[in-house]
Parts: sequence; structure tokens; C-alpha cells
Amino acid sequence: MIESNVDLQPLNTLAIDACAAHFARVETLEDLREALHFARAGKLPILPLGGGSNIVLTGNFPGLVIHLDMRGLELEEVAGGTRVSAAAGENWHGLVMHTVERGLGGLENLALIPGRIGAAPIQNIGAYGVELRDSFYDLQAVHIPTGELHEFTAVDCQFGYRDSVFKGRARDQYIITRVRLHLSEEWSAHTEYPALKHYLDEHHEGAGPLTPVEIAHAVTAIRNSKLPDPAQIPNAGSFFKNPVVGDEDYHRLKAAFPDLVAFPFEGRWKLAAGWLIDQAGWRGYRRDSVGVHDRQALVLVNPGRGSGAEVTGLAFDIATDIRDKFGVELEPEPRYYP
Ligand code: FAD
Ligand code: EPU
Repeated sequence: MIESNVDLQPLNTLAIDACAAHFARVETLEDLREALHFARAGKLPILPLGGGSNIVLTGNFPGLVIHLDMRGLELEEVAGGTRVSAAAGENWHGLVMHTVERGLGGLENLALIPGRIGAAPIQNIGAYGVELRDSFYDLQAVHIPTGELHEFTAVDCQFGYRDSVFKGRARDQYIITRVRLHLSEEWSAHTEYPALKHYLDEHHEGAGPLTPVEIAHAVTAIRNSKLPDPAQIPNAGSFFKNPVVGDEDYHRLKAAFPDLVAFPFEGRWKLAAGWLIDQAGWRGYRRDSVGVHDRQALVLVNPGRGSGAEVTGLAFDIATDIRDKFGVELEPEPRYYP
């Protein structure tokens, strides 16, 4: 069941050419435990892999890549709404459409985010004013050092903006095997995000109130208009997080750049990194195999299927330029391996 020297290019959406020294595709908890046993015996580092849409392979991976391919999706009516239970290997967008097509609201703003359910809690995926944590119930994960199954509530997960306990204290300690969501029967539409509001003002002509499926279709249309499809133009979505700064930095920047795009965020200010990178002149930039998407400057692209070094070299140059021009630090959103 363990393969050697497996090509990871088809398994990462940046289409970086890299290999895994060892590779296991797991469909059951039993498969996963065997794979972990193999890694422990060989003292190998582990890379849990879902859809590969939020990783940057900077070289070959010297350990064991565990491709989470467990399937299963169940909906259950419970007091106050619907409980959704999904195995780690299920496709995220498939789950969103499965729920909204049944009239269930809660996930519609998160339509078309690539990847699998097991990875969704890692960075608390978010889009168009909604995050995973808004409908999260609990998850089940295997503790890598012991093989034990642990449950995590929303509080345990410590969700934040593009953040969770799995990027902090519990980093590299767990493999998520199942996620449960709660879709409340008291649903209301979240259409305040500027691009979504604008789109609906222009396109929604129906007399009745918006339904979850209509919002999912609107979000899909907006995303298709500015984000590159990884199957056509390899990319990992937003390459940097939107930086969060205090009042002093915000007022300094706003005075120098009156058009600065920023939103109040937990008592501070979240800056649109795409705006900063765009203003610095990088949008549409090309260098060898890599570049910056021409419709969204926060997205780095790899149309020439270049190496991880080319991608990270470009990211480094952009971050340096943004520090020089604006005094703002950019932090990559995808995780670099190895
Ligand atoms: P992978 O890339 O396979 O893994 C990501 C990280 O999670 C890795 O560190 C991996 O080891 C870890 N991991 C994966 N599965 C597990 C598991 N079962 N247990 C433990 N660790 C695991 N993100 C957003 O939040 N909002 C967006 O709007 C958005 N838009 C995107 C648009 C595009 C075009 C692309 C390419 C990406 C976008 N992303 C977005 C980023 C990405 O889709 C999400 O981060 C997604 O959750 C990654 O899922 P994945 O299965 O591909 O994870
Ligand atoms: N902008 C520009 N130029 C650009 C790109 C953006 O001026 O080239 C401006 C836009 O005009 C807008 C603002 O920046 O005023 C924000 O842009 P957008 O609405 O496209 O969102 P974003 O902040 O760039 C974030 C997430 C996306 C998510 C969208 C929608 C992060 C790091 N990124 O992008 O998530 O889909 O909001 O909610 O938070 C991802 O994480 O991979 C991802 C795609």
C-alpha cells in the first residue's frame, strides 16, 4: 500500500514538479493507522494531503505523503437544524452544493473553494463574509504520535482569520478524519460583502427573497470572473493573508494613500493585500514560468509549471517590495513543504 517516488505534480494545484519519497492513499481509519505506523517505524516526516490547493512544494518531500481519500457524507435532522457529517476526503464544493440544492443554508458563500473537507478547519476557510467556524460543530482527528482518536469542539479549534489550533499549538500533531457542521434552520442571507452585494444588485431580479442556491451561484460567478481555474492556470488562491495592522499604521497609510482598501477587524484594520500588490505594479507581471494573475494581484500563478523555488522567489520579491513601499509585512497563506 505504500508507494515510493510518487509524482506530486498532479496532486498540487500550483502544478509544481516534485516527488514524495513515500506515498499512501488512505480510504479508511485502518489504512491511516497503518500508514502512520510505517512513518513512525521509519521516523519519517508526514504531509497530510487533501486537494493540494494550499501547499507550496519547495522541493521533493523526503517523508510520507498521506493522501486523505476517506468518503462519506450524511445529513441528519436535529433540533434546530441539520447536522452534516463528512469524511475528510469529500470535496468541499460538492458538499456546499449538496446542501444548498436541498434548500439548506449556511455554506452558500463558501461555494467553489477548492480542496477537501479535512483541510477546511486547518485555516478556517472563508469567503464573502462567512467562515467555516460559522457552521462548524465538531471534528474527529487521529493524534499522529499515538494513533488515538480525539474530538475537537469549535472552542478547541481556536478558529481565527485563516487560522486554527492546527496551525498553532497542535501543528503537525493531528490528521483530521471527519468534520461535522450544523446548519441552523434560522438561516439568513449574508450578502454584505461588497463584491457580492454589487453582483446581486445587478443580477438578482427575482421578486422573492434570495435562496441559498441563488447565493451559491452568485458567489460562483464572481469567483469565476476573477480567480484562475487551477486546471487551466496553476495557482494556490490568495498567496498572502490580508495583513492586520493597528490604528497608527492604518492612519499613516491612509494619509499617504487615500484610496487604501481596509476594513475594521477585531479592533484593528485588515488591509486588502491584493490592493497593495496591485498598487505596487505587480498585477499581470510575468517572470519565466511564474507570475501574478492579471485579474487578482493576490494570486500568484504558475502557467509554465515552474519549480517551487521560482514561486517562492517571486513571493519573496513581492513581500520585500510591499515592505519597502508600504512598511507592511505580508505572510504567505499556503504552507511551504518540506
Ligand atoms: P491541501 O492543500 O491538501 O492542504 C492544506 C494544508 O492542510 C496542508 O498543511 C495539509 O497538510 C493540511 N491538511 C490537509 N488535509 C488535512 C487533514 N485531513 N488533516 C490534517 N491536515 C490536513 N481558501 C479560503 O479560505 N478561501 C477562499 O476563498 C479560497 N479560494 C481559493 C481559490 C483557489 C483558486 C485556490 C487554488 C485555493 C483557494 N483557497 C481558499 C485555499 C484552499 O482552497 C483552502 O485552504 C482549502 O481548504 C485547502 O484544501 P486542500 O484539501 O486542497 O488542502
Ligand atoms: N483588489 C485590488 N486589486 C487586486 C485585487 C484586489 O485593488 O488586484 C482590491 C479589490 O478591489 C477589493 C479588495 O482588494 O476592494 C479585496 O479584494 P477581493 O474581494 O478580491 O478579496 P481579497 O481580500 O483579495 C479575500 C480572501 C479570498 C476570498 C475573498 C472573498 C484572503 C487572503 N483572501 O481575498 O480567499 O475568496 O476575500 O472573500 O483573505 C484564498 O484564501 O485563497 C482566497 C481566495
